[in-house]
Amino acid sequence: MNRINKWLVAMTLEEKVGQLNMLASSQAVTGPGNRRAVEEDIRAGRIGSLLNLWGGNQARAVQRIAVDESRLGIPLLLTLDVIHGHRTIFPVPLAEACLFDPDLWEKTARAAAAEATLDGIALTFAPMLDVARDPRWGRIVEGPGEDPWVASQFAAAKTRGFQGDDLGAAHSLAAVAKHLCAYGAVTAGREYASADLSDRTLREIYLPPFSAAVAAGTAAIMPAFIDIAGVPMTANAPLLQGWLRGQLGFEGVLISDYNAVAELLNHGVAKDIAEAAALALKAGVDIDMMSNAYTQGLPEALERGLVTMGEIDASVRRVLELKERLGLFDDPYRRGSAKPETGDARALAREAARRAIVLLSCKGDILPLSPDIGHVALIGPLAAAPGEMVGPWSSAGLGDDAVSFLDGLKAALPECRIDSASGVDVDSQSLQGIPAAVELCRNAELTVLCLGEDVSMSGEAASRTDLDLPGCQRTLAEKVLDLGKPVVVLLSSGRPLVSPWLFERADAVLATWFLGSEAGNAVADVLTGKFNPTGKLAITWPRNVGQVPVFYGQRPTGRPTKAGERYTSSYLDLPVTPQFPFGHGLSYSRFTLSDLRCSPSCAKPGESVEISLMVRNDSLADGEATLFLFVRDLVASVARPLLELKAFRKIALSVGEQGWVNWTLPIDSLNFVGLDLRPVLEPGQFEIHVGQSADPGELLTTIFELIP
Ligand code: GLC
Repeated sequence: MNRINKWLVAMTLEEKVGQLNMLASSQAVTGPGNRRAVEEDIRAGRIGSLLNLWGGNQARAVQRIAVDESRLGIPLLLTLDVIHGHRTIFPVPLAEACLFDPDLWEKTARAAAAEATLDGIALTFAPMLDVARDPRWGRIVEGPGEDPWVASQFAAAKTRGFQGDDLGAAHSLAAVAKHLCAYGAVTAGREYASADLSDRTLREIYLPPFSAAVAAGTAAIMPAFIDIAGVPMTANAPLLQGWLRGQLGFEGVLISDYNAVAELLNHGVAKDIAEAAALALKAGVDIDMMSNAYTQGLPEALERGLVTMGEIDASVRRVLELKERLGLFDDPYRRGSAKPETGDARALAREAARRAIVLLSCKGDILPLSPDIGHVALIGPLAAAPGEMVGPWSSAGLGDDAVSFLDGLKAALPECRIDSASGVDVDSQSLQGIPAAVELCRNAELTVLCLGEDVSMSGEAASRTDLDLPGCQRTLAEKVLDLGKPVVVLLSSGRPLVSPWLFERADAVLATWFLGSEAGNAVADVLTGKFNPTGKLAITWPRNVGQVPVFYGQRPTGRPTKAGERYTSSYLDLPVTPQFPFGHGLSYSRFTLSDLRCSPSCAKPGESVEISLMVRNDSLADGEATLFLFVRDLVASVARPLLELKAFRKIALSVGEQGWVNWTLPIDSLNFVGLDLRPVLEPGQFEIHVGQSADPGELLTTIFELIP
């Protein structure tokens, strides 16, 4: 009999439930509840996994208690939110999505895994795969943006990066795809609110990234806090048992979100903790994070016949199998003891950060800065704020070793005089620092305004209704802009900020998100032209919060938008177009697209078509273009979106160089969720659109026919 079966036979009920119980150590808390000492619980076998404890020594010490001092010696699973880096911090996921580079997405996950496993961590609660189209929701920062196809590529790349080829290796982390699902669709962008959407939208938008994560072998999945149309995901048997385990065949572990099992009482779907525990366990949730609902409720649920011992055993088995796959039974100390993997994480962080920067607007030739520039004013609350550069969910990353914009610019322009002042706080009403700050700009050749949000204004429990600059930053910016001198804006935020006045008046605006440990160097690389910006928006940038949710993949409607025409899908007071479309991102180069071809012009299911396009660099700067391939199914049994992203490709071109970009588009990738909610492929005409963003005005189009 193998060791898992032996343990299952030997375990008491308390020990079985202990393997399903995850508690936070006293090192950090990422949700409601108190800090607590956990050693006596570990000795008694009442805890199977720990959250928020890291550091080789601490990990080995707590593991030794489990292995040497508990009755069965089953090792602990040590877990942490390693979302965008562990000690070296990479750009927040929404920024990383703007790289449109699965290789880099995988590399940063790999580097994060190397650092986290050195600290004894075996599982990370990442990647976060919540498609989001509502920037009022603070967790938009943590995810891969608005597009389900991009989110699916992100899911696969991150899962591969965290888990590597061998989950049992010293530097591999178990990935947890989260939060299943539709968390990004919370009502009015309000955190933890209910989401109410059709089964079709679930299957078209919110489930695909989790299918991709399962296909990539994710070890675990975390259901979302929220309810979908009244069914809390933590107790959603149709989706967890039916779709995930039944249809997809997912055999991994389901870990509840923080306290979520007990919060089924707040949802009003369980009358006591035993019912809450039973609902979650029967829905397939194996581990109860932090709520103690399983510890307190499962024994009673068993007595009351709400669950069976077989159901408890099935969950315990999945948890033990994960621990076995991680190699914890062979060597509980493998993580936290191995020698550091080679590789320069800081250099990787700088590469990822500069590629995440999106040049939103740039008038004339204000950028890149002249190498001879002699006097710059660096103004704003985020100018010299290294702690803000790491963004939310920065794991063990200490902001104080991040490179601030001031430090980065000083290092890049050692001969330049750089005067800096914050002028205002990020979010206060005090104007007293503005005159002195404006004075510094008066004599400078150019001002770099460093504006935006602080770390606490996005991430979990950080929904906002007003998406303009917080505090008095607008007052500061307007005083500086009123000087009439060149102004470049660095916009640091966890979401698109709605500041049309700023885009109108500033000479250039860069979305610098939260770029991580190398923020200042990455921004300096772009401002000085050492790096030609390549970032592309993975999220549509609204013109006004009243447009939200605004995204490129809208359905046509019976009265498609016609600017200026009443009785079409439009607003009286604002164009329907966003401030910047999905895929937007300027470069110091200028690329011309031509000769879009599709061959053959008709194809059958199971076949492919070859799509090609000529791209030419018509500028004086070598650069890299990103091309997006969209399709539109013109007539189908269900109204299909105006644009659906099916591929993206990059091409680097020197000055004056041109080159072909080619795609092979499998016809079967044109299937969609049919009337019966099953995938269907229907004959008919398809438009192919290719461009550098989803801006309809700049797409090249051709057509082909899918024949039966
Ligand atoms: C938090 C988050 C979840 C995270 C977990 C552990 O509340 O919702 O994403 O993984 O708790 O920190």
